[in-house]
Amino acid sequence: MKQSVKMIVGNWKMNGVSAALAQAEAIRDAVGTTGQGCRVVLCPPATLIDRMQSALAGSGVAVGGQDCHEKAAGAFTGSVSAEMLVDAGATVVILGHSERRSAFGETDADISAKVEAAIAAGLEPIVCVGETLQQREAGDAIAVVSGQVAGSLPSCLAERDFAVAYEPVWAIGTGLTPTLDQIAEVHAAVRAAIVAKLGDGARTAPILYGGSVKPENARDILATPEVGGALVGGASLKAEDFMPIVNAAA
Ligand code: G3P
Repeated sequence: MKQSVKMIVGNWKMNGVSAALAQAEAIRDAVGTTGQGCRVVLCPPATLIDRMQSALAGSGVAVGGQDCHEKAAGAFTGSVSAEMLVDAGATVVILGHSERRSAFGETDADISAKVEAAIAAGLEPIVCVGETLQQREAGDAIAVVSGQVAGSLPSCLAERDFAVAYEPVWAIGTGLTPTLDQIAEVHAAVRAAIVAKLGDGARTAPILYGGSVKPENARDILATPEVGGALVGGASLKAEDFMPIVNAAA
């Protein structure tokens, strides 16, 4: 397992063409080679991974993918394999994001298979879980998230480097966030579910929080018990928004 410094991951989603590399370079220059006391990862669209990796090589910023196929190769038009992400320069991959679960119908079993593929290719997976607003209002948040952890983490993760990201669906891109107590409660449940599935060796796997993380709320969220970092969407697209979050983690 990797060290216990905070992990700050930018998920650019389907945003960014060549011109966006200037933002990655600005983040690179601000982070330098030390990582400023935290791990920083940018996950651009697949088309930018190769060039972003070249731009960030030797810096404290790593590059990741946003998804991969569960198979290593074959007749899967439009898909990208874990090995292809590695070949392009990625060391990390986000899997099971709620947008993949809802818009592409990915199940826990699908995500578990993708995690296995990522591990086989040498990638560090970040597995996303999170409840909908309806599930939270029904009092089911802990049960839903614990179930997603149990179903999405394959046993091959034991003793491997990986992270889980708790992203309440209702907090993504909305400006809404859970209270710090709610974040702490879910993160404690996620930890319990990870350890129940993978054993004590998984006690140090980082649990990231994601969902409307901004410069204004990052410091408090990152100081919440069991929050090992942040998975940042909109605020990762510009260095001026992302760097205060990185600095809050350092
Ligand atoms: O994966 C990050 C994400 O879903 C959160 O997005 O824009 O609310 O920070 P955002």
